[in-house]
Amino acid sequence: MRVLGIETSCDETGVAIYDEQQGLLSHQLYSQVKLHADYGGVVPELASRDHVRKLVPLIKQTLLEADCSAEDIDGIAFTKGPGLVGALLVGSSVARSLAYAWNKPAVGVHHMEGHLLAPMLDEPAPAFPFVALLVSGGHSMMVKVAGIGQYQVLGESVDDAAGEAFDKTAKLLGLDYPGGPLLAKLAEKGEAGHYDFPRPMTTKPGLDFSFSGLKTFAANTIRASDGSEQTQANIAFAFQEAVVDTLAIKCKRALKHTGLKRLVIAGGVSANKQLREDLAIMMKKINGEVFYPRLEFCTDNGAMIAYAGLQRLKAGEIEAMSTKARPRWSLEELPPI
Ligand code: KG4
Ligand code: ZN
Repeated sequence: MRVLGIETSCDETGVAIYDEQQGLLSHQLYSQVKLHADYGGVVPELASRDHVRKLVPLIKQTLLEADCSAEDIDGIAFTKGPGLVGALLVGSSVARSLAYAWNKPAVGVHHMEGHLLAPMLDEPAPAFPFVALLVSGGHSMMVKVAGIGQYQVLGESVDDAAGEAFDKTAKLLGLDYPGGPLLAKLAEKGEAGHYDFPRPMTTKPGLDFSFSGLKTFAANTIRASDGSEQTQANIAFAFQEAVVDTLAIKCKRALKHTGLKRLVIAGGVSANKQLREDLAIMMKKINGEVFYPRLEFCTDNGAMIAYAGLQRLKAGEIEAMSTKARPRWSLEELPPI
């Protein structure tokens, strides 16, 4: 089976073709980062309009690169939610219409299931069951994964997502949008021992997260600082250290709670080098395994949607002709396959 995957839930237009036997045949990404940079964040209406402009040419380019035509495609997968409603509607309308025109099945994919399965695009793929830490710009959650569609959310953020906290703190430090990767880069120049940021919700039991307090702590620290370049880097270092530490503490707790020793980290923040390093050390200590997506598949992309869609199409799931976008959609609502 060969699936065309379409991702348009936020500010990246992603298209890919995944073949069950041959793997990924082509993937293309158009990032709207420059379009939103002047506003310091994603402007939903601009995002939708840009998806309208870019999606069809990107589909053509992906087909060309994979040397495929409509006859070579067995199904079309698209991100149905969660995300920005206008952006989701562009992907779902194009995907559903194309599937109708080509007389192929379409399937609506949950964006976070896409992230969660992204490490399966490469070898070695994690075996079920595992604990997944999903950390993106819109969501932070800890999930027990028994199989595809068998998800138990063990904890989630009660306020900002981890990526959102990175972006907001980066903005306070005067960095461009999206600030997460820029803050991580600045932190590389920072020194330890200058600032001690809190590790929110780690002293109480439980697997929920809270990151908005860290952002406020950063705002107060920045205000009281001398504003020098080195100080900015030290603050970035301390902030990143606090987020990474907090996530690692929660992962350890989730593994203990579930009795599992296999961990998957996915979503935009899983690209964070410090997080990857610290979790690798932690998992080695407990004799466990940790899996991440390839760096380019940590953030939003079409490949993860093609892969997740293929699993669901194979299980016989087909999206009705009249489809709805699901801006809010719990992972736990998904049917097991
Ligand atoms: O998964 P994603 O592409 O989009 C959503 O589904 O939200 O995640 C984007 C988020 C942004 O907040 C971005 O700043 C963050 O992931 N991010 C990072 C890094 N790379 C991306 N945060 C920290 N360190 C990074 N290296
Ligand atoms: Zn995402």
